Amino acid sequence: MGVSAMKLMPSEVARRLLRLAAGAAILISTLWATATAQSPRLASTPPMGWNSWNHFSEEVTESDVRATADAIVASGMRDAGYIYVNIDDSWEGQRDAQGNIHPNGKFPDMKALADYVHLKGLKFGIYSSPGPKTCAGYEGSYGHEEQDANTYAQWGVDYLKYDLCSYESIMKLWDPSQDPQKASAMMQQAYEKMHQALVNTHRPIVYSLCQYGIDSVWKWGPKVGGDLWRTTDDISDTYRSMALIGFSQAGLEKYAGPGHWNDPDMLEVGNGGMKPDEYRTQMSLWAMLAAPLLAGNDLSKMDDTTKSILLNRDVIAVDQDRLGIQGTRVGPPQIWMKPLSGGAKAVAIFNYVLDDQANPITVQLDEFGFSGPVHARDLWAHKDLGTLHGSYTVIVPKGGVVMLRLWE
Ligand code: GLA
Repeated sequence: MGVSAMKLMPSEVARRLLRLAAGAAILISTLWATATAQSPRLASTPPMGWNSWNHFSEEVTESDVRATADAIVASGMRDAGYIYVNIDDSWEGQRDAQGNIHPNGKFPDMKALADYVHLKGLKFGIYSSPGPKTCAGYEGSYGHEEQDANTYAQWGVDYLKYDLCSYESIMKLWDPSQDPQKASAMMQQAYEKMHQALVNTHRPIVYSLCQYGIDSVWKWGPKVGGDLWRTTDDISDTYRSMALIGFSQAGLEKYAGPGHWNDPDMLEVGNGGMKPDEYRTQMSLWAMLAAPLLAGNDLSKMDDTTKSILLNRDVIAVDQDRLGIQGTRVGPPQIWMKPLSGGAKAVAIFNYVLDDQANPITVQLDEFGFSGPVHARDLWAHKDLGTLHGSYTVIVPKGGVVMLRLWE
């Protein structure tokens, strides 16, 4: 090899290496773009849909779920974003000799039901427990996690609510001293175990943790694969229960964001136990909280008021804002603010004072970070309020809410 060739070689090698590196970079970025295009992040906004428990409880049947899928489309709810049709507890039957779970007689063919739901452009959700029994005493997934995850994937499940229930007794059994740290570690392992089983199916399945907020689940929920986690005990269809749960969420906002949501439990709108103003409060507060919007009523029998609450697109847009920032309380007693994309803010003024008066409430616009005039829209009156200066005073019905969108 001549002297000149020896001198040229390092730069030639360098050029080839550069070309190789550039080629590899293009390949990697193409693969990445393809992968991300094919699998958009799960739950990038709070999940929306329906869950059977609040209305049907253990009575839910396959025909109820089909009727729900029909109604969610016919009512316009699907097109407003309510996509998940989720069966809660009481679908579970027995395991066969190989340990495979089968639905009970109320759900003769789970795969056919999932297909029906999918054909309507919806997604299909199901429920189980890390314990041997679910909260209503049906078969849980304890010791069958992989097998159950595979069964769900075969059926076409898109969402799993995984409810602690009898796993609490397993925790006590293994650690009679009930050391809280050991108990929490066991619980986290149980949730992680099902997470791995779901990942191994290679089917995108939203993973909803339900353990009532024990041991500040919002701090470790993402670590065990949770896309959302219940922060409290069960809601019931009363103003007291709803308001206690909803207003107690202040302070949890830093744990929420795209792909990981605090879940203050499902909607009760339309179930009959609250007044329309109180249901407007739940819908507004849940939107301010960037909470999952899972309707819990009988969608095949909705009156116009219920529809107008669940289908308020302005309020839904606050919940689904792409920034995914959970709102919080900015002033007493219950003035809440949620930053939205484009610099706008949602503001909710709740009348939480339980007297018989509709109260005038005044808010100062600088409380929401505005120094000059702001444009305002009333999201329940469906009307633009023009330009506000300095403050805004409004009469808010008892147990009700005035919800605004403000922007400069
Ligand atoms: C628990 C959950 C509820 C519901 C029931 C079903 O109580 O918190 O949301 O799933 O179990 O048994």
